[in-house]
Amino acid sequence: MDYSQLVQGAETLAEEIIALRRDFHRHPELGFQEHRTAGIVASEMEYLDLEVRSGIAETGVVALMVGEKPDPTVLLRFDMDALPVQEETGTPYASIHDGVMHACGHDGHTAIGIGVAKLLHNHLSDLPGRVKFVFLPAEEGLGGAERMVAEGVLENPKPDYSLSMHLRNDKPLGWIGITSGPAMAGAERFKIEIRGEGGHGAAPHKTIDPVLAAAQITNALQSIVSRNVDPRESAVVSVTQFQAGDAFNVIPSHATLQGTIRTFTPEVRELILARVEEVSSGVATAMGVDAHVELTRLTPPVVNDRELAAKLHSLAESMFPEATISSNEITMGSEDMAFFMEGIPSAYLFVGSSDTSRSLDAPHHNPRFDFDEGALSMATSLMAASEWSLLEAS
Ligand code: NI
Repeated sequence: MDYSQLVQGAETLAEEIIALRRDFHRHPELGFQEHRTAGIVASEMEYLDLEVRSGIAETGVVALMVGEKPDPTVLLRFDMDALPVQEETGTPYASIHDGVMHACGHDGHTAIGIGVAKLLHNHLSDLPGRVKFVFLPAEEGLGGAERMVAEGVLENPKPDYSLSMHLRNDKPLGWIGITSGPAMAGAERFKIEIRGEGGHGAAPHKTIDPVLAAAQITNALQSIVSRNVDPRESAVVSVTQFQAGDAFNVIPSHATLQGTIRTFTPEVRELILARVEEVSSGVATAMGVDAHVELTRLTPPVVNDRELAAKLHSLAESMFPEATISSNEITMGSEDMAFFMEGIPSAYLFVGSSDTSRSLDAPHHNPRFDFDEGALSMATSLMAASEWSLLEAS
């Protein structure tokens, strides 16, 4: 395959991909409610004669493209959900649904996925393997990926490789991130229930104050990253919610803390989870309260296969000689793509999409989020070529 053909092919499709993206943008749907979006995806895939399965994890769509050879199989994942955000872009393609907006670029991802299928379909007779397109519902913290995996998306056929991508509005169009190794952190949620004994605000000696105890626990938790984690590793422990009390003159009987933990390795993760328990119960004992810690795993870390990342890096360099390509872009954000990557050689790519000169640089999840649509054709050819190079190499 001469990959410049795919770059040109994606440019030819650009108008169509932009029109799809704007249509999805006008009609955003929240997680597990992407009925309209999934319907369009399914009919586009059926039009290309792909084997389509809909209604996986409510609104997920899987479509299989079969080339010349049965093996290998590359999984390509694109997310479809919008966010509960009131749009303020004022564009002609702004959301027509109050309080719902594509503020993360998943409208673009869905359009890119359809673009990749159209682009590869133009070369179907040469396609050296199979492509499993996965259109994911509910990426935004609602567990869409875990449900799709539980419903068998990684079987029949089992992918040999997994690829996905995200637009990045903190990077300009022409920037590509193909990280070698860990790229995005694994995430957990913690909740700490603190029980004391309430009473009059003027008689603290007759109470066991859970507010003070929760404050001490909040402070002490900050010692974990600074004093327990090896300084050469990265980790986050953030207390983000502190709830207690209903009146200024009443010491309440309980307080609740919630927050998130971000890590890249199983060792650091285990260490932090153990220390959150120890610190909370140790401080609770000292303060005379009870502390109960509840930990919920959200996603494992996104870890790119180093060999595969190096290969895709040189591919991207040859396709886009003008592009800036980073191999060490790491974020503490998390992504449920991790569930499609566990045990499978994989890569998660970042594609820069901002244009500061046109004010297309609002951050993701912001009501004014919008991006340079030039990123759509770039990502389409990049994903198609990445996929092709993996099929071809095997
Ligand atoms: Ni996103």
